[in-house]
Amino acid sequence: MSEMETNPLFDLGGRSVIVTGGGTGIGKVYSTALAGAGANVVIADIAAKEGEAVAAAINADEDGGKAISVATDIADEPATLAMAATAIDAFGSIDVLINNASLMSVLERRPWHEIEVEEWDRVMAVNLRGMFLCCRAVYGQMKKQGRGKIINISSSRFWSGAPNRLHYSTSKAGVIGLTRSLSSEVGDDNIAVNAITPGFTESETQLASSTTQYLQGQSDRYRARAFKRAEQPDDLVGAVMFLASDASNFITGQTLNVDGGENMH
Ligand SMILES: NC(=O)c1ccc[n+]([C@@H]2O[C@H](COP(=O)([O-])OP(=O)(O)OC[C@H]3O[C@@H](n4cnc5c(N)ncnc54)[C@H](O)[C@@H]3O)[C@@H](O)[C@H]2O)c1
Repeated sequence: MSEMETNPLFDLGGRSVIVTGGGTGIGKVYSTALAGAGANVVIADIAAKEGEAVAAAINADEDGGKAISVATDIADEPATLAMAATAIDAFGSIDVLINNASLMSVLERRPWHEIEVEEWDRVMAVNLRGMFLCCRAVYGQMKKQGRGKIINISSSRFWSGAPNRLHYSTSKAGVIGLTRSLSSEVGDDNIAVNAITPGFTESETQLASSTTQYLQGQSDRYRARAFKRAEQPDDLVGAVMFLASDASNFITGQTLNVDGGENMH
């Protein structure tokens, strides 16, 4: 480690950060990287065993921040309230909420008219109602603190209109509406609400749930990008850290696209 201190604008040391869906995939990478930067991380995932494993790995490292795992179904209001209460008990504050959990890799890729109504409703319940409930659960504490950062994970499908998983794409477009409108309601509380739109990212879960043929189709798409390679979970970490840090204090209601220059806006 360099002797040079982190510029205070980018310093996440001691910040209390909730990462929903922090037990697997990209959320696991966020949790680990944030703890590595000194943040105390609350991993709120419905996949309890995976969340525990990530927290244990973080706590086994003497450097950086600490972590706890709270088994949470974000679609369930009492569970989100318990998540917030546990975070405050453990770390004394909630500085950042990263709304990363969603139903994505578990969804079959099918034409829109083959999506069952029940599956459509469940996607909305997790991806949109769940995000609303998590924001609501942390709001009281952030308001009391006089500051907070909410980072909502959307998808570059919002820009590209990619086919299949229409329910998922629709929910991720809803995330942008939620981000913009909520930001204008909580600005007076000094709470920033921003969104990130990742491109197709080779998370462990995305890879495991995609056929070789589908992945080949994706790699053909990279040729149309400014940066001609596949997106990795690590490519998203800097954007999340920036929006979590004081360096972004006057940015709110915005959507930061991180897809290697495939979509430009
Ligand atoms: N991987 C990609 O290509 C890609 C692209 C654009 C956006 N995203 C978004 O990035 C985020 C992470 O992606 P990923 O590839 O790791 O996805 P993923 O599907 O692998 O992971 C989602 C996480 O959310 C958790 N989760 C699911 N339902 C939950 C619930 N009800 N309550 C709490 N946790 C729940 C899962 O257990 C998992 O840990 C998601 O919001 C996804 O939509 C991913």
